Amino acid sequence: MKEKLEELQTKIEQTIISSAEELEQFRLTYLSRKGILNDLFEEFKIIPNETKKDLGKLMNAVKQDVQEKFNDASVLFQTSASHNKSNIQSDLTLPAEIENIGGRHPLSLVENEIVSIFNKISFTITEGPEIEDDWHNFSALNFPENHPARDMQDTFFIDKEVALRTHTSSVQVRLMENQKPPLRAIMPGRVYRNEAVSARANCFFHQVEGIYIDKKVSFADLKQTLYYFVKEMFGEDVKVRFRPSFFPFTEPSAEMDISCLLCKGEGCNVCKYTGWVEILGCGMIDPNVLENCGINPEEYSGFAFGMGIERIAMLKYDVKDLRTYFTNDVSFLKQFSQL
Ligand code: DAH
Repeated sequence: MKEKLEELQTKIEQTIISSAEELEQFRLTYLSRKGILNDLFEEFKIIPNETKKDLGKLMNAVKQDVQEKFNDASVLFQTSASHNKSNIQSDLTLPAEIENIGGRHPLSLVENEIVSIFNKISFTITEGPEIEDDWHNFSALNFPENHPARDMQDTFFIDKEVALRTHTSSVQVRLMENQKPPLRAIMPGRVYRNEAVSARANCFFHQVEGIYIDKKVSFADLKQTLYYFVKEMFGEDVKVRFRPSFFPFTEPSAEMDISCLLCKGEGCNVCKYTGWVEILGCGMIDPNVLENCGINPEEYSGFAFGMGIERIAMLKYDVKDLRTYFTNDVSFLKQFSQL
């Protein structure tokens, strides 16, 4: 057995390991459960005790040689993947990996822009609840008892008196009830309507409401404020027009159109070949509404306006289908991550 061990020792000394495959082969030959070293130890168990001492030393020396050879070669021929990884972990001078931090949703971008435009002319921000009572959503705003918006088909009622708000005009009422004029505020938020979902309608969407109440506020103030907003939001070249309209809570009432951003007023299917698109409703706050909210209409007057954020974002980013905003499609959302 002594000779066998010495022979093995020379063989190991002469072995050259030059690749990961050879390293694995070496391991299998010597170190695995069915490898040479294990066989030798089995053999060692049955030799006479007198020879055990000398041979034992030699056995351990062989074992050590094998292990050292294997360890040295392992450093050189680890698989490249784990090799690279260990390098990255230990090289602190490498630049940090940039995490993908995502971006804002297009509706948030537009809402933030609207809010900051009005902030510049001293409009503060106010919010109100999405679950609203009949008074704040309808009655205080001068909706007659038989108005169609009070119908189950248009509004999500929770019970007879409570519904999901159908517009952010309800926040006007809360603000007027809680603060004394002069009031100058915008009110962004989500609203709900009982509509079939399609490319142009959804059962919830977002609005920004605005009011200004003080002594001697006139329709001219309303127009100038909205002119300023349009120029800031869409640029100097965009044209504006007002059309007479009707809302229960304003008198007189108007709708405001801007020249179509996509065809520059030439006519396309977004503006239905009129060159104009409607972007908001507005008017002078009805004296009944002021009175309902504890403000004396003899002393104060005010204007109000309300616009849909989805609609403005559709025009600004040329989005054709409203549903795209809510499907969480990353390839759509990614387009806005740098804005
Ligand atoms: N509340 C209206 C709607 O949801 C929008 C609106 C129109 C708000 C005229 C106003 C306004 O404040 O004066 O369609």
